Amino acid sequence: MIRRIAVFPGSFDPPTYGHIDLIERGARLFDLLIAVVAVNPRKPGLFTLDERVGMLREAVAHLGDRVEVDSFEGLLVDYARLKGASAILRGLRVVSDFEFEFQMASMNRHLAPEIETLLVIPGEGHHYVSSGLVKEVAAFGGAVDGLVPPQIERRLRRKLQERQGGIS
Ligand code: PNS
Repeated sequence: MIRRIAVFPGSFDPPTYGHIDLIERGARLFDLLIAVVAVNPRKPGLFTLDERVGMLREAVAHLGDRVEVDSFEGLLVDYARLKGASAILRGLRVVSDFEFEFQMASMNRHLAPEIETLLVIPGEGHHYVSSGLVKEVAAFGGAVDGLVPPQIERRLRRKLQERQGGIS
C-alpha cells in the first residue's frame, strides 16, 4: 500500500496554535505528516532544538501516529526525499507570506521536481499568529493565551525570565 507522506517544516520557536491548526489539517490529508524542526545556524532562536522538538511533540500528541515530530539540518528536499515524502506543507496566513513561500516552493521544485509544495490557509483566528510576534508580546508582558498551548506559554515565560526579557 502506498503511504502518502508530507513534511511540515519550520522553525517552531515556539510552536503556536497556528502551527497546530496546520498540522491537524495536514494529518487529514496525508497518511503521515512529519512536522520537522529545521536547524538554522543563521537564526539561533530563543529555544534550543531539543526544546522545540519536545514542545511540538507534546502539542501534537493528540493526533496519534499520523503525525511524527523530527528535526533536520541541511536541505529540506534532501530530508523530504530521505523520508519518502511526496509533499511539503506550508501555511499561508496573509498576502505578505506569499512572496517568501512562492520563492521557497519554486526553489524546492527546482531542486526536487517530484515533490509538490502545498500552501494551506490556517483556520480563522490564526492568520495573525506567528512565533515572532508571540515572543515579542510575551517579552513585553502581553497575554499570549489562546495563541500557544498553556504548557508552551509557561515555558516561554520561564525562558524569557531566564533571558531577563531578551528576545531573539
Ligand atoms: O518557520 P520558518 O522559519 O518560516 O521555516 C523556514 C524553513 C525552515 C522551512 C526554511 O528555512 C528551510 O526549508 N530551511 C532548510 C534549508 C533549505 O532547504 N533551504 C532552501 C529552501 S528554498
